[in-house]
Amino acid sequence: MLAGAGLGAFAWGSLVERRQFTLRQVTVPVLAPGSEPIRVLHLSDLHMAPWQRDKQEWIRSLAALKPDLIVNTGDNLGHIDGISGVEHALEPFRGIPGVFVNGSNDFSGPQAKNPLKYFMGPSKNNDKAKHALDTDRLHDVFSSLGWTDLNNAASALDLNDTHLEFVGVDDPHIGRDRLELVTGAIDDLRADDPLSDESWPDPSEAGEDRPTLTIAVTHAPYQRVLNSFVNHGAQLILAGHTHGGQVCVPGFGALVTNCDIPRRQVKGLSRWNAGLRTSFLHVSAGLGTSIYAPVRFACPPEATILTLTAA
Ligand SMILES: [Fe+2]
Repeated sequence: MLAGAGLGAFAWGSLVERRQFTLRQVTVPVLAPGSEPIRVLHLSDLHMAPWQRDKQEWIRSLAALKPDLIVNTGDNLGHIDGISGVEHALEPFRGIPGVFVNGSNDFSGPQAKNPLKYFMGPSKNNDKAKHALDTDRLHDVFSSLGWTDLNNAASALDLNDTHLEFVGVDDPHIGRDRLELVTGAIDDLRADDPLSDESWPDPSEAGEDRPTLTIAVTHAPYQRVLNSFVNHGAQLILAGHTHGGQVCVPGFGALVTNCDIPRRQVKGLSRWNAGLRTSFLHVSAGLGTSIYAPVRFACPPEATILTLTAA
């Protein structure tokens, strides 16, 4: 009886829910008073394999939403030949500004392993060389779309009369984050900006003429990274990696986060506090899974439209 229910749940999660692509809509009151809204499409964890045409077409359909900005929080590839599928999926977004950071699945592809290990602590990729992905080619695809590489870097962009500052790190899950570079990257950004007033990015301090928002981006939302971002003045942090728990228990939620944040923050919008500062945190449950763990339960694949509005 119990085995039958388990098999039924696995069949549902593998054959049906894994392909129930869902658009979540979230409002984030984070802009300076009087600001025009900014619509951000948050994509994450595509884990694209060449045969996943339904996922590619669903992502393409999101271009009709006409977002102002796209944030891609990594883990784009689920197969060594997945890049063409990513390119096809993202082509309709050409001309829309974007930023991206790497996840571990932008460097090395998935490996067959015991899926129960997922519930025993953060995952590890033990044989990186054997499963190496073409990260440079993936970055070329993003660059051709006009998107900005935020791996251990900072950048800025003006959208709808708000000055957006971005800071990002390479994937903390595999130790590629260089938090010691964040301060210098922000300093360099402001040194190159003739309008910078050198204030922290608090809308109330940034001057009436130029409302400013600082957005920080990481693949894996480890606490050390979130704390650093908040201490550097981030007002909105976007992350992926958790898959929302991927296999959840109805009424209980995620069993694991695959990192060190609390389970209740495994997906969706929440607050992250560090010292006296606070930031919004949005974690995407992402659109894919490893091809060796093709199941989602009580946690459908998702993309999110974040509408940033005046606080
Ligand atoms: Fe992922």
